[in-house]
Amino acid sequence: MISIEKNQEVETAIKNLMQSMFEQRNYLADILEYLEKPLTPAMERKVEGILKKYGMPNESLAIDERILTDNPYFRNIRLDKIGSEAVKYSKDIIPKRTLMNTDFNRQLGKYLFHYHPVGYFNIDLEMPSLKEGNITWMSPAPSEIISMEEGIRKGTGKCLTMGLGIGLLPYLWLLKDEVESVTVIEHNKDVIDLFNKVIRPQFNTGKSLEIIHGDAFEYFNEEFLNRFDYAYIDFWESNEDGLDDYIRLMEKNVSLSHVDFWIEESILSLAKQIVALYLITLYQKRNITDFITSLDEDNRKLARKANKFFKKRTDVISTEEELLNLIHDRKLLRELLSVPVSN
Ligand SMILES: C[S@@+](CC[C@H](N)C(=O)[O-])C[C@H]1O[C@@H](n2cnc3c(N)ncnc32)[C@H](O)[C@@H]1O
Repeated sequence: MISIEKNQEVETAIKNLMQSMFEQRNYLADILEYLEKPLTPAMERKVEGILKKYGMPNESLAIDERILTDNPYFRNIRLDKIGSEAVKYSKDIIPKRTLMNTDFNRQLGKYLFHYHPVGYFNIDLEMPSLKEGNITWMSPAPSEIISMEEGIRKGTGKCLTMGLGIGLLPYLWLLKDEVESVTVIEHNKDVIDLFNKVIRPQFNTGKSLEIIHGDAFEYFNEEFLNRFDYAYIDFWESNEDGLDDYIRLMEKNVSLSHVDFWIEESILSLAKQIVALYLITLYQKRNITDFITSLDEDNRKLARKANKFFKKRTDVISTEEELLNLIHDRKLLRELLSVPVSN
């Protein structure tokens, strides 16, 4: 079993980790009061005060609308209201000054404080989206465009993505000279039919765009993934449902450097909290079984993976750097999440 030495440096690091998790909870509670509401000048000052209090980057809350209006998808593709109750494109007006998340979780500092950057537009915006029942799968919103930047940039040669949505990523890939073809795995036939009827005819490309009707989990294997130069996996709605899907993918033990996962850092921020709490329990020599059983079902599964993973290790952690590495190292976390545990 891994062991964590008791010394002043580690003691301080543990305290700072706990404090950062506590602060993050407070930040979320504070900002939630203002999210998705049009801000009056007084509310804006309150929000600025919250950002200052938690030491967040001091950027203006007003977002430059060119992030959308300069985006080729937002500019060129029209999504008229169409579809069935099950799957449809719809259009919502976002009133000016409505505070929204502009990206998913980002880490601030070296411990476990994560935050969503926030902002508002100074104009009313008509925002198209793809909805399946209560789920909003996709819209060309700032948080989607910003969070997919890495995937858009890295697309080259034969590209694969899992999750069609409104085809934002495929469109932006196909515009790139370096991209030769795009293949998409999508499990919902209605999403594909609607896309083929409304969006595909607007793509105006001579390159191949193949949409395969199938389940991402079945296609997530080395043989299939290796047929492509780059793959970007994006079939979850946010980090919360994403964590479950991401864990299922990790359990397949496929590790390929040309495969990336949408909002991976944000998804991992949820897993890191359980790993940290597990290590703190170990450090404080409290009962691990009691800790695991005190958690809800999803977190219990995570803690059991951590337990199995750390039980096999024999190293001694004696510095803050070593401790933080166990929490933040992406390769280590992927391995930890791939550990099989029974339900
Ligand atoms: C967030 S959207 C993808 C957005 C897309 N990247 C874009 O640029 O528009 C997720 C999509 O994944 C699909 N999906 C969900 N679970 C899936 C699964 N297991 N296999 C394949 N597709 C899935 C949904 O129907 C939805 O179309």
